[in-house]
Amino acid sequence: MNQFGDIIFKRVDGVDYSGVRDNTSLFSLLLVIDGKRTVNAIAREDNYDEKELFAMIDQIEKMGLIVPVESAAAKGYQETPMDVSFFKLPKKYRTGIVMVDNQHQMLVDMVTQLDTIRKTQYANVQFRMGEIGKVVKQLIDYTISHFAFEESLMREANYEHYSAHKRIHELFITRSNEYKERFIAGEDIVDELLEVLNRWLFNHIRNDDLAFAPAVLKTVKSKGDTNGPWATKLLKKFFG
Ligand SMILES: [Fe+2]
Ligand SMILES: [Fe+2]
Repeated sequence: MNQFGDIIFKRVDGVDYSGVRDNTSLFSLLLVIDGKRTVNAIAREDNYDEKELFAMIDQIEKMGLIVPVESAAAKGYQETPMDVSFFKLPKKYRTGIVMVDNQHQMLVDMVTQLDTIRKTQYANVQFRMGEIGKVVKQLIDYTISHFAFEESLMREANYEHYSAHKRIHELFITRSNEYKERFIAGEDIVDELLEVLNRWLFNHIRNDDLAFAPAVLKTVKSKGDTNGPWATKLLKKFFG
């Protein structure tokens, strides 16, 4: 009888209507399915006849207005377990340039997020692909900004291996875009992408990024360090 268990549903338009109620039953149901309460909770708290409620939810789902959220994640009332900040960038990966290290930590967080999605069992394949798509896009966009930021620091410091380093960045961007294209074409590229990221990106940080650290750190300090107006302006230029 309880076909939905304690799964919650998320409106596809992403609008949060929680707290808003209406009289007509279908619309009312749409308003209470807001990604915050399980179907069981709605039945209990709003005094719905369970059988009727499940039938209505089934109908709304078929209309494509809502998508189920994986139940384990639903218990925490969020789309995916997003607490990814537990994994801190190890010391041997730190350049000592605070702005760069923060950006690398951000990349680590996104990779952890992708890994979390990979390990999560979603009730709805399309929803899972949507979640992956969001993180892949975010990861690639952020990596491109990060690379441009680093290149600007290296130029400023007249770093001798600037061209070689930039070339490595370009190769990585080309490769990332290939993954993006394959993902758009419907391929599940998560496992492969994570392997590449773990192997390639982190090696790049540990070897190539750490190599420019002494020269760049000197320049950053001479410009008033990370908290100064120069750094603020630079960050704004690349990250908005
Ligand atoms: Fe980097
Ligand atoms: Fe780099």
